[in-house]
Amino acid sequence: LDSLDKDGEIALLNYGFVDLDPEATALELQPEDEANRYCIQLYHHTVETVDLAGKDVLEVGSGRGGGASYIARYRKPARMVGLDYSGKSVAAAQRQHKVPGLSFKHGNAEKLPFAEAAFDAVVNVESSHCYPYLDRFLSEVKRVLRPGGHLLLTDFRRQEHVSMFNKQLDACGLHLVRKQDISANVLEALDRDSARKEALIERKAAPHQREPIRNFAAVQGSAFYEEVKRGELRYWSFVFQKPEQTS
Ligand SMILES: C[S@@+](CC[C@H](N)C(=O)[O-])C[C@H]1O[C@@H](n2cnc3c(N)ncnc32)[C@H](O)[C@@H]1O
Repeated sequence: LDSLDKDGEIALLNYGFVDLDPEATALELQPEDEANRYCIQLYHHTVETVDLAGKDVLEVGSGRGGGASYIARYRKPARMVGLDYSGKSVAAAQRQHKVPGLSFKHGNAEKLPFAEAAFDAVVNVESSHCYPYLDRFLSEVKRVLRPGGHLLLTDFRRQEHVSMFNKQLDACGLHLVRKQDISANVLEALDRDSARKEALIERKAAPHQREPIRNFAAVQGSAFYEEVKRGELRYWSFVFQKPEQTS
C-alpha cells in the first residue's frame, strides 16, 4: 500500500460504520474529511461515549494516521499519540497529519514503549486481530492506563476465534462498560463505501494487483465482504474502564 499510495491519499484503513437509527443526526465533518466519512464514523462510534477533551490519548495500530488525526482535531485531547508496528505507515502518518498535539511513534502493541499510567484512554480500531498475543496487548493497556482510564476497542473476529477473543477480554482486568455487536453497521458501511474504494483501487493499482486489494478492502463481491454478509465474520465495539484501585 505504501508503494501504491505515495501521495498519502489513503489515510484510513478500516471497514467503516453507519448509524442505522433513522433518527440519528449525521456526524458533522469538514469538507476535506467527507471522502473518509464511513471510516471516520467507525472512530466516532468507538470513542463517542468518553470525553477525550484535554486528555492524554494513545491509539495503538494507528495505521496511516487518519483516525488519530480525526480524534486530535475533533475531540481535542491535550496529547494524541498514534503508534503502529509498520514503520512505513508511521512515516506516512508523520508526513501527512500535522496537527498540534498529535505525534506518531513506531512500536509494538504487545510491548508498548510508554511508562506506567501515561494515558487516560487507549483507542484500538480494527487492529487487535493482527496481534499474535492479544493478552499481552491487554496487559500493556492496563499498565499504561491511569486508574479510571478507558480502553476503546473495535474489531472483528471469525466465528472460530470468537470464544478465545471473549475469554481474553473477560480476563483483561478492566471493567466492561459497553459491548455492542456492530456487524450490521459495518456491512452497511461496506455497501455505501464500495464504489469509492473500487475507484481508488482502479486508479492506484495495476490490474494484476487489484484482486487481493479488493479483498483486503472488502469491496462488494469480494470473499471478505461475503463473509461479513453471511455473518461468518462479526464486528464488536467495546468500552472498558480501568478500576480506580487495581490489585
Ligand atoms: C486494518 S489497519 C487499521 C489502521 C487504523 N486503525 C485505521 O482504522 O485506519 C491495522 C493496523 O494495525 C497495525 N498493527 C498490526 N500489528 C500491530 C502490532 N503488533 N503493533 C502495533 N500495530 C500493529 C498494522 O500495521 C495496521 O496499520
